[in-house]
Amino acid sequence: FFGFDLSEASQSIEYDDEQEGLQDEVVIKFSHVVAENTPKGRAARRFASLVQERTEGAIKVEVYSNGALYDDQNEYTALKDGHIQMIAPATSKLTERFPKWQVLDLPFAFPTHEAVREAYQGTIGTQLLNSLNNEVKGMTFWYNGYKQITSSEKQLNVPSDFKRTHFRIMPSPVIDSQFHSLGASTSKLPFNKTYHNLEVDFINGQENTLSNIFSKKLFQEQEYMTLSNHGYLGYVVLMNDEFWEQLSKEHQMVINQALQETTDWIRRHSIEMNDAHLRQIKRSDSLEIHYLTKEQKKLWKQSLNPVYKEAEPIIGRSLMEEIYRLQE
Ligand code: LMR
Repeated sequence: FFGFDLSEASQSIEYDDEQEGLQDEVVIKFSHVVAENTPKGRAARRFASLVQERTEGAIKVEVYSNGALYDDQNEYTALKDGHIQMIAPATSKLTERFPKWQVLDLPFAFPTHEAVREAYQGTIGTQLLNSLNNEVKGMTFWYNGYKQITSSEKQLNVPSDFKRTHFRIMPSPVIDSQFHSLGASTSKLPFNKTYHNLEVDFINGQENTLSNIFSKKLFQEQEYMTLSNHGYLGYVVLMNDEFWEQLSKEHQMVINQALQETTDWIRRHSIEMNDAHLRQIKRSDSLEIHYLTKEQKKLWKQSLNPVYKEAEPIIGRSLMEEIYRLQE
């Protein structure tokens, strides 16, 4: 089966009880879908080495990148079933199970990076993490960046340009509604199938952060990019609940501390990583790049109004009020 032995992945805790005196080694399998050279890829590695170092090897964190172990469609179930112990999906990927999480997908919800931080670390983040109902343990939010639009057909500057375009999206009703409000059609596809679907022209556009557009070579299959900053893509770090409960208090403290430091690190470095990837995309000369103007942004916002109207009753008043407050 694709060369992977999944039964091996299900041994979450490996005890070495043959050699007396040796401490039990705890293994955390951390699975994610992006490339290594991205904010999430680097944060996962950083977290792994902090934990390993501070527990003197008693906890080993094995990081599986690029969806090598599980893709975005099955990583959540694999986590819940204890085949792996940690994942960090885009928050959008929780919206079908936990509809209130759509709040983070609202277009133009976060005017600044500071607003994202306030949302993740303030009331919105706390409410969302608590809403996971002990199904999995929500640990923290990790940062990536604003999403940009790429297309192979034409430059997408104003909403009417989206007519007859077909976009790959993450599974999130708000993102779906966003593209339909702009006049495009959509297909929900796994992240690591995006390149292929652009290559065979099943889709002719997609939205993502610059780090994902660069590291997955999506820009090579596209002709145009609109730097629109129309939505934010970030992550929630999740842990298998039972696994967490079984850890010693001391190990829980080390993990929490390492996560807090990694969260701080990714918040400070994700912007420059995405900027560096934009420079590399520009250098490749394979895309025509357009910066959305103020007037164009106004037109997008007008077209996107219905997305807010549709989502409000699902997201609920208190979270919506928080979002409006961040936009003031
Ligand atoms: C996507 O599916 O486009 C992203 O969620 C990938 C990621 O994890 O950054």
